[in-house]
Amino acid sequence: MNHGGTDGIARARAHIAKAERIVVLTGAGVSAESGVPTFRGPDGLWGKFRVEELATPEAFARDPRLVWEWYALRRTTAQTCAPNAAHHALASFAVAERRMTIVTQNVDGLHARAAVTAAGAGDPSPALPLEVHGSILRDRCSACDQRSAPVDVDASSLATLPRCSLCSGLLRPDVVWFGELLDARVLGAADAAAHQADVCLVIGTSALVYPAAAIPFRTLERGGVVIEVNTEESALSPMAEVMLRGRAGEIVPRLLNA
Ligand code: OAD
Repeated sequence: MNHGGTDGIARARAHIAKAERIVVLTGAGVSAESGVPTFRGPDGLWGKFRVEELATPEAFARDPRLVWEWYALRRTTAQTCAPNAAHHALASFAVAERRMTIVTQNVDGLHARAAVTAAGAGDPSPALPLEVHGSILRDRCSACDQRSAPVDVDASSLATLPRCSLCSGLLRPDVVWFGELLDARVLGAADAAAHQADVCLVIGTSALVYPAAAIPFRTLERGGVVIEVNTEESALSPMAEVMLRGRAGEIVPRLLNA
């Protein structure tokens, strides 16, 4: 294992250069430098808020107004933040080389925005991420599952919460809550990409939440390597061939830019 430095970057670049397929798994740390808060750690959301009051189906059934108030705030944060150098480096690489699949646990839409920038007038799809935990920038009906573009949410009372245009059920953010299953098609595509990859680049995740945290193991199973970028040790660090300790916005461009 290598703990970073110039040698670590060089070794990671060599793995990336010879890889036929690369899968990337990102977590909240990739968006930290954009101003989106992470979940764990001293300033993390789960140190200030209780998961079970805000991010479970039971919480929504009990108090949809409170849940929406929190998600509307997070939606505004995501919309007002901008992709950082890590999102841009990943998107440019994916568009230019077409041998990378980006999988994200983040719901903030920043990878997709970077993809559009990288593609310019071209096709952003090679850099659009598989969003295994959904998107905060999409609504879904809690009754009929119909997905829709996000509406402005007035969370001042139960009566003002947004409702489905088809069945009048309460809309909810289209994110995966604790206790819910991930979208099988999205997770299946992420698993398949990891199983075909020679390199799994894991950026800014504590790698504690399953099944997303199992994705790098699919690459390891087929003999590929894990390269980790994180400011700190994570649950995955012992499995990493190269561990690059530092901020994603600084390290990822050094890994991927020509
Ligand atoms: P966490 O908050 O658990 O972990 C963030 C990781 O990013 C930590 O390992 C930090 O050390 C690292 N980090 C922080 N700043 C960084 C930076 N600038 N550059 C590189 N690394 C940095 O977030 P996730 O692992 O994404 O799930 O959390 C996984 C899931 O738990 C989330 O998708 C969410 C949460 O509950 C659901 O809501 C279902």
